[in-house]
Amino acid sequence: MKIFLCVDAAQATALAGAQVQQQIMRKPESVLGFATGGTMEALYAELIRLHRHQALSFAGVRSFNLDEYLGLSGTHSHSYSHYMHQHLFDHVNIQPQHIHLLQGDAADPVVEAQAYEQRIQAVDGIDLQLLGLGENGHIGFNEPSSSLASRTRVKRLAPDTLAANQRYFSADISQPTHALTMGIGTIMDARQVVMLALGAKKADAVAHMIEGPISARWPASVLQMHPQTTVILDAPAAQHLACQIGRAHV
Ligand code: PGA
Repeated sequence: MKIFLCVDAAQATALAGAQVQQQIMRKPESVLGFATGGTMEALYAELIRLHRHQALSFAGVRSFNLDEYLGLSGTHSHSYSHYMHQHLFDHVNIQPQHIHLLQGDAADPVVEAQAYEQRIQAVDGIDLQLLGLGENGHIGFNEPSSSLASRTRVKRLAPDTLAANQRYFSADISQPTHALTMGIGTIMDARQVVMLALGAKKADAVAHMIEGPISARWPASVLQMHPQTTVILDAPAAQHLACQIGRAHV
């Protein structure tokens, strides 16, 4: 694990953006795994800035998103498909046919999950997978107790995840209780992983991910076994780590 401790969230986000930029410059036809959530919003704003001001081109990029709420169509205002268009896809030159999103309203979610795995294999796998970190240690919607070898499938959301994401839903839009998510095994197959975790709420999960035993209680701890993982933190997120980490210079 390569761990970067940044002075603040803005520096951490810029560093994560630079990792994506370098990947695309190395390989313009990169296959990128995208994540959603509050942390990623600033990162996508940074990628849009790089596209506009540093000519970062997404023309050859193919993308696969980590997860989607079960039961929501891609056009639903609370779907992660809608989130991705709103926060990234509508603002960069990615080709619509290169975008891969799980269909939350698929007639048969099991078939959808298997087809998604096949689509990832058909492009020779994911070059760089972006990850956020759940307060409970989840990656994607791989909640605590997920098999560390799991593949794309339907998962029931944990109560603490439902509580953390409740803020996005109002009384008239009920919060889905299940999701389609890439599995932990699927994530571990990515050639490179970039994890961005910010703020004090993530401090426990960060400590378990980096220093804890590998366990299904803290799914992100499996990243200790990944050969090319970069973890980018701000000081509040790093505060429970026992090990000393040098500051990032960007
Ligand atoms: P957040 O979510 O960025 O909104 O904190 C991260 C996650 O749950 O994976």
